[in-house]
This record gives sequence, C-alpha cells and structure tokens, in this order.
Amino acid sequence: MKKVAVLTSGGDAPGMNAAIRAVVRCGIAEGWDMYGIKLGYAGLLNSNIIPMGRRDVAGILQHGGTVLGSARCLDFKTDAGQRDAIRVLNQNGIDALCVIGGNGSQAGAYALHRLGFPVVGIASTIDNDLYGSDITIGVDTAMNIALEAVDRLKVTASSHQRAFLIEVMGRDCGYLALMTGIAGGAEAIVIPEVETDPEELAQKLIKSYEKGKAHALVVVAEGAKYNAEALIKYFTDHHERLGFDLRVTILGHTQRGGTPSAFDRILATRLGAGAIQALANGKKGILSGWENSKVVHTPLEEVVNGKKPLDMELLRLSGILDQ
Ligand code: ADP
Ligand code: F6P
Repeated sequence: MKKVAVLTSGGDAPGMNAAIRAVVRCGIAEGWDMYGIKLGYAGLLNSNIIPMGRRDVAGILQHGGTVLGSARCLDFKTDAGQRDAIRVLNQNGIDALCVIGGNGSQAGAYALHRLGFPVVGIASTIDNDLYGSDITIGVDTAMNIALEAVDRLKVTASSHQRAFLIEVMGRDCGYLALMTGIAGGAEAIVIPEVETDPEELAQKLIKSYEKGKAHALVVVAEGAKYNAEALIKYFTDHHERLGFDLRVTILGHTQRGGTPSAFDRILATRLGAGAIQALANGKKGILSGWENSKVVHTPLEEVVNGKKPLDMELLRLSGILDQ
C-alpha cells in the first residue's frame, strides 16, 4: 500500500484547491492512501499531516486559496531542516510527496529528491516564472483580475483626463504586467526584464496628453526597478506637470484571492492528475507542467536551473499598439 502526501507552498494561487482535489482523488483511484500536509514545508516540519479521503476534497474546486494553507518557511531552506523533513515523512510512513507551488517550492522539492525522497512537483504560481510549464496554476485568474481593474481604471481615468500607474504582482517576472498591459491596451508597460528610463516614460505620458488622449495607463510590475513607488518619486522630483493628473493603484494580493477561472481549474486538475500518473509510472524528481497543450514531466533539476524567458516580441508589439 502506498501512502502519498500533498502540500501547497509559497504564494497561494487560484486553482491550488483544484490541484489538491485531483491529486487526492486520482491517488485514491490508484488504490493509495492520501494525506494532506498543512501549511507547506512549515507544516511538514511540524508533522502537521492529515488523512484525506474523497469527501475531504469535496466542494473546494471552485474556491481560491488553498484548503491546506501555505507558508514560507526559512527553516526548510537549511540542510538540517530538509533532513528533519525526511525524518517526519519517514516517521509518518509517507512513500511520496506532491509539492504544489512555484520556483522556491520546487527548489525545496528538488532538495528532498536529492536526499533520496520520491517527490513530484505541480507548477503553480501567479508569476508564471517557472521553467517547465508554459503557464502555471493561478496565472489566468490573476491576469483576469488585473485586467478587470485596468478596464475599470481606464473608465475613470478617461472621465478625468488622468494618468494611472497600475502596479501588478510579479516578484522577478513581468509576465503579468506584460499580458495585462497588452490585454488592457495600456499606454506603457514597465517590467523587470527591461531597463526603463523614467524620463522616457514621463515624456511618453506628456506626449499622450498633447496628442489629446483622454487617459494614459501604465501597467507596472512590482519587481521592476522603477515600480509604482519609484516612478512616483521620480515624477514628483522631476516633473511639476505631466499634462495628466496622476493616480496610483497597487493591485497587490487582490490578484491572488480570486475564484479560479475555468482555465485554472482545468489546468490544475490536469497537472494534479499528471503528478499522480507520474508516480504511478515510477517517475520521481519531476515537475508536472503544461507545455504545447499537454501535461509534461520535466526533471526538477532542469526546472530549478532553467530560466523561462519572457516573449520580448510581445513587448515590441505593445510599443506599436500603444501609439
Ligand atoms: P514560491 O514557491 O511561490 O516561489 P517561495 O520562493 O517563497 O515561493 O518558496 C516557498 C518555500 O519553498 C520557502 O519558504 C522555502 O521553505 C522553500 N524554498 C525556497 N527556496 C528554496 C531553496 N533554494 N531550497 C529549499 N527550499 C526552498
Ligand atoms: O510569488 C507570488 C507572489 O504573489 C509574487 O508576485 C509576490 O511578489 C509575492 O508572491 C508576494 O508574497 P507575499 O504573499 O509573501 O507578500
């Protein structure tokens, strides 16, 4: 009899519950005993492990967040923490672990794999910066929440001839900002991957005003050197007038809390099922991700060492469309 546990780790992402449900139900269909670990690696170190049956994952598919809870856990980053984690897993008779999370969480999964414990990862982060998955659980929902905000802000911006800086999440990655900016018809997009000259941006806003535009929207990634706070400081220090009156909206965690979209529910379900399929086929140390419209299994070693590039052609296109 196989005992398999699942945890969610790092930033929560809409769709994590759908992934938990798929892991638990597909694992039970394999004839295994399934367990949930509460609060990510922190809960693992505290042996916070509960049995999970089919009914325990009923009614969670449509909810954002994670019923298992998530955490960021510094202790687990140490060698001693990782050895403790393996000890807890062994003491509880767990044979394999599924880790639902982003870059950091998969680095943790890889650490356990290197210590000889069977692990599979499931690609989940709203940042979409995980190598081995074209798109990760939570991105679609987060992007649509940001887009709704952009659409709303465009309406009020146009009424008042204002410019808006709209800051979206993305710790090191501009994917959400780029896609939301394109989908929302932003006048400018600021991302960490490309150096932004704040003076050029100021001139762009002034030109938009002079052209008679009713609004100017700038979608900014929080991880950009010139994020909303830095841009406001620059504009305040260097420009008495930008033409437009300027307002700032930082979307922050609103992007993480939403009801998962159909896309995210289906993606999470398929990646969860793909993780169990991998274990059933004897695969371990891999990430269950989504590439070219299929579930793919990529070695965690490649995942943690790989870098997923942003499509710079889209940034160039946005520069043509925002004129
Ligand atoms: P995400 O998985 O969303 O990228 P984090 O980067 O915060 O989120 O990582 C989540 C957790 O994964 C961390 O709190 C830590 O416990 C673990 N983790 C992160 N980086 C590593 C690493 N290099 N080695 C081992 N564990 C890590
Ligand atoms: O990694 C997902 C993410 O939402 C990033 O976009 C953001 O920088 C970070 O998590 C915020 O972390 P916390 O929820 O700990 O404030």
